[in-house]
Amino acid sequence: MPFHILWANRRTDVMLAGASGYIGRAVAAEFAGRGHHVTSVVRRGDPTVTRYLQRFGPVYELDVTDADSVAPLALKRPAVRVAVSCLASRSGEPADAWRVDYQANVNFLEAARAAGATRFVLLSAICVQNPRLEFQRAKLAFEAKLAASGLSYAIVRPTAYFKSLAGQIPRLRQGKPFVLFGDGPGPACLPISERDLASFIVDRSIDEERWNGIFPVGGPGPAVTPQARGEMLFRLLGRPARFRRLPLGIFDAVGAPLSWLGRGIPSLAAKAELARIGRFYATEPMLLKDPETGRYEAHRTPAHGEDTLEDFYRHVIAQGLGGQELGAQAIFSLPAGRRGSTGRPGRRPAARQ
Ligand SMILES: NC(=O)c1ccc[n+]([C@@H]2O[C@H](COP(=O)([O-])OP(=O)(O)OC[C@H]3O[C@@H](n4cnc5c(N)ncnc54)[C@H](OP(=O)(O)O)[C@@H]3O)[C@@H](O)[C@H]2O)c1
Repeated sequence: MPFHILWANRRTDVMLAGASGYIGRAVAAEFAGRGHHVTSVVRRGDPTVTRYLQRFGPVYELDVTDADSVAPLALKRPAVRVAVSCLASRSGEPADAWRVDYQANVNFLEAARAAGATRFVLLSAICVQNPRLEFQRAKLAFEAKLAASGLSYAIVRPTAYFKSLAGQIPRLRQGKPFVLFGDGPGPACLPISERDLASFIVDRSIDEERWNGIFPVGGPGPAVTPQARGEMLFRLLGRPARFRRLPLGIFDAVGAPLSWLGRGIPSLAAKAELARIGRFYATEPMLLKDPETGRYEAHRTPAHGEDTLEDFYRHVIAQGLGGQELGAQAIFSLPAGRRGSTGRPGRRPAARQ
């Protein structure tokens, strides 16, 4: 049997930072579903999430932004082989991005190495291909640090998450139009569910043959623009499509005065960055970019998984977004009989997706 298959079948000790997040919870469930032992690292927070993660292994509550707080992990988990980070700034503001996306990851990398980890898998983002924002620079700085660390590594750069494309559903249910920015259909993405992304991350963690690389990834497709998403939602709601277009200049109208005032007031400079983030996502496709032509190409963006955006929208229209926020619990609450042959938590029934 090839060594990488042996490794995949072996029970691996995994240390997971950012385990309390949207993707982190799904990754913990996916590792556990495949029989691996997961040590979760979280900051003190929601006891429901902590209890949920305790089903998969020990949970350490500590401040990962503080190197001294993270260092003792090495003594607590000496058998760790793979470290996975799903850490990310929740605000996207520059100072927080450097504190979390860069510094907390550096601290976790050093603690994982001291604990014996030989591999490190990082959840990053495809948007760093075209870095124009501070949080992207923080992510790239850590990507470079990881690549130079001497550990074997995989940097996973997903496109857009389903949850990020669901924000307008409550408005539409109230009879309001779908909001589009600028002219035209808007930038395309190849969205991926948290479960499919989690399975991709776990595959990258145990696949010996594909290491030391950057792995962009989207869902099974098709690629969709904001206009196509609006049309899909109205079709599923059984109503004629209605759109409201806002000019892209709205981001500059908000951001420019904040930028100017931010020269003296740092908190306003951080808010100006949020306006730049809004404009970025309203204009940039979340697809693989050809470095030679500079074009974004849906057909070259690697696709993984089975969950479709349309099924997800159907599920949210029927059941709301609640199960999505607590996605990990929703997965785990499935009866044991729904688990797949790999032990991976089963797919939600189509009607619930
Ligand atoms: N949204 C998208 O469509 C999309 C697409 C591609 C890539 N991405 C990338 O995916 C990542 C976001 O993933 P996600 O949605 O799973 O994130 P998330 O739900 O916001 O989770 C972030 C994780 O980081 C932890 N964290 C944040 N600040 C921290 C701090 N100061 N100290 C300790 N822990 C901290 C959070 O802990 P708490 O639970 O305690 O807050 C949580 O575990 C980002 O890197 C983003 O760029 C997103």
